[in-house]
Amino acid sequence: MQVTVFSAHPFEQPFLTEAAGSQHQLRFVADALGSNTAALAHSSQAVAIFTSDDASAPVLERLAALGVRYVAVRAAGHDQVDLGAAARLGLRVANVPEYSPYAIAEHTVTLMLALNRRLRQADQQLRQYDFRLDNLVGFDLHGKTVGIIGCGRIGGVLARILHGFGCRLLGYDVRPNPELARRYDLQFVSLGTLCAQADIISVHAPLVPATHHLINAERLAQMKRGVMLINTGRGAVLDTEAALIALRSGQLGYLGLDVYEHEKGLFFQDHSREPGTDALLTELVAEPNVLITGHQAFLTRDALINIATTTANSLNAWASQQPAAHELQLAASTTLLPA
Ligand code: NAI
Repeated sequence: MQVTVFSAHPFEQPFLTEAAGSQHQLRFVADALGSNTAALAHSSQAVAIFTSDDASAPVLERLAALGVRYVAVRAAGHDQVDLGAAARLGLRVANVPEYSPYAIAEHTVTLMLALNRRLRQADQQLRQYDFRLDNLVGFDLHGKTVGIIGCGRIGGVLARILHGFGCRLLGYDVRPNPELARRYDLQFVSLGTLCAQADIISVHAPLVPATHHLINAERLAQMKRGVMLINTGRGAVLDTEAALIALRSGQLGYLGLDVYEHEKGLFFQDHSREPGTDALLTELVAEPNVLITGHQAFLTRDALINIATTTANSLNAWASQQPAAHELQLAASTTLLPA
């Protein structure tokens, strides 16, 4: 099958090429899919898209008019696809619902430890041959209370890792999983209790209307003074401006982010020639107790292999007129907000 791969990043191309084998001809396009770039999918039966692409109704109409029939989303999140329009146009859509909860949970712990042990400052000082330790004092994770908001696949793996560290675990989820309570002594509590008791809070709930700015000024004020907050879920679950204010007042002791409310059009690209265009991000990064990565929590070789393999499996199924294993239906997307 001829496939146009939009937003094709160098880091993923070898994995996609290998998984596609000789069965599919991949045309890698660096541009994101959108109204102005849809024509690049000419003569393709399928497109493969990423979280930063635009698969809204007008774009899907252009693709369908070109003869495209299949949309493979190379990610779990699919809020960028108008599934209603896809169904109306007869386009089949599939995603990769689970490629590695370990990658994201492990990156979450990386942020926690790096913030706690002040690795940003330590690295800067060491490069200047300043070996003083006075501003690098951390704390033991052992015995601390960690609150996990959203205890699904990623939150569950995080619970397992932190149980190993000897942390006390609190969880908040609209669908509590009793297995986590049984295995890791995780106690499901209200969001208010979690905020009031946790030394570290980590966000792993999806972005849906109910979670938009779930962590806002009011919630931040309920937390312990000096709390560590980590968000590797979706940027808009956190009111970022409120977080900056809480950092400056000392209410937030540490902030670790892999996702950012205004990341679209910014993350995944080189903007080093125009630094500082996002004032809020610039202010956040200037705070010493903040560590931000640019949506790289998923970026492990294992995850990339799984994404490429599942994407190729969808294309294989479609090429032999079969449904793909992870085809998306309209109902699944109606509650999602744009990321
Ligand atoms: P999942 O669906 O397995 O778990 C999500 C959990 O959140 C579920 O247990 C669900 O019941 C709970 N939840 C739903 N609505 C809630 C609410 N209003 N309040 C509290 N809990 C709620 O999803 P998974 O795989 O664990 O992924 C979680 C999120 O992580 C994804 O939605 C995505 O936004 C983000 N993610 C980030 C990546 C990164 O590279 N930074 C990569 C992959 C996912």
